[in-house]
Amino acid sequence: MSSNHRDLALDALLHPFQQQLLQWQPPALFLRARPSSALPAGIQATQPFAPAATALQRVGTALLDEDALPAAAFPLVLVLPPRQREEARALFAKAYAALAPGGIVVAAVANDEGAKSREADLKQLAGSVTTLSKYHCRVFWTQPHAVWNAELGAQWQGLDAPRRVVTDDAANGHFMSRPGVFAWDRVDAASKMLVAALPANLTGAVADFGAGWGYLAQQVLARCPKVTSLDLYEADARALALAQHNLALAQVTVRTHWHDVTAGVDGRFDAIVCNPPFHALGGGERPDIGRAFIAAAAQALKPKGVLWLVANRHLPYEDALATGFAQVSCVAQGGGFKIVQAVKA
Ligand SMILES: C[S@@+](CC[C@H](N)C(=O)[O-])C[C@H]1O[C@@H](n2cnc3c(N)ncnc32)[C@H](O)[C@@H]1O
Repeated sequence: MSSNHRDLALDALLHPFQQQLLQWQPPALFLRARPSSALPAGIQATQPFAPAATALQRVGTALLDEDALPAAAFPLVLVLPPRQREEARALFAKAYAALAPGGIVVAAVANDEGAKSREADLKQLAGSVTTLSKYHCRVFWTQPHAVWNAELGAQWQGLDAPRRVVTDDAANGHFMSRPGVFAWDRVDAASKMLVAALPANLTGAVADFGAGWGYLAQQVLARCPKVTSLDLYEADARALALAQHNLALAQVTVRTHWHDVTAGVDGRFDAIVCNPPFHALGGGERPDIGRAFIAAAAQALKPKGVLWLVANRHLPYEDALATGFAQVSCVAQGGGFKIVQAVKA
């Protein structure tokens, strides 16, 4: 995360250590970690989101598999809980399972991202918490000899497990998903609008930038018989694993890439479909991410290759499109979205 985009929840999480209200106790575990120069060396972490995972690895942080953490091993577990309730509760349950006897769990959440609810969740699991308000966030931690609710912990562990989701969308009746991934229990309205605008003659090598659980990619395969391969790029490892599952029966070559699209991609494509993100972890609206997706698409398309993009109408993508593409047209608008077709020179 650049210095222009301050990560207030992370700063709040580290605040009690800087004030010496809490002490670092090795080995410490940080769930959904984000990099900070204030973190001590030797911390172990989990992070399914590729840009943050790469940044952590760059500074030597060891990454662990969140679904296979050592039990009762860490005297200190830090957590930056996600916004989605079931996913956050499952993460607290994992923190508790990884906690050594007498250890503490510390968490921080922005006030406008459900701080009070997450604090209440941890309190329910651990009996009581100490709370501080800082940087428009709450940072809260458990007592060293808390009486944890083991039954609730066991129940919460499975709350974000993958499952089959059924929607009333005739084109996409059911798929594998799990709480916390983008539009986890529905088809996103913007993606649906993009699918409705897609021509059936997309041909050759196609990519989906920011593929989520695979809705757009699935629909490309269902509607465009001349597609010969499909590459899915997605930063969220949890979503990508679901996309892999949802496309397991595809008749063409499907490749999945756990990758930060804003860093550019290596492949070359005849067409790219994209519903770009415009938020980063721990921050507000970030249209620069969508613009970086557009620049990456321009660079990855072959000459005359086509980008099919859906975006919220208010997002300022016109300059990025004009820079990367020879021909740009808005082919549909509605419901607050615009569908853009952009052709590379
Ligand atoms: C608006 S969603 C679209 C998801 C999916 N295509 C759909 O239609 O349901 C954007 C996706 O981009 C992913 N994403 C966010 N930042 C990313 C990045 N830097 N690189 C790759 N994917 C990213 C998000 O995890 C999310 O799944």
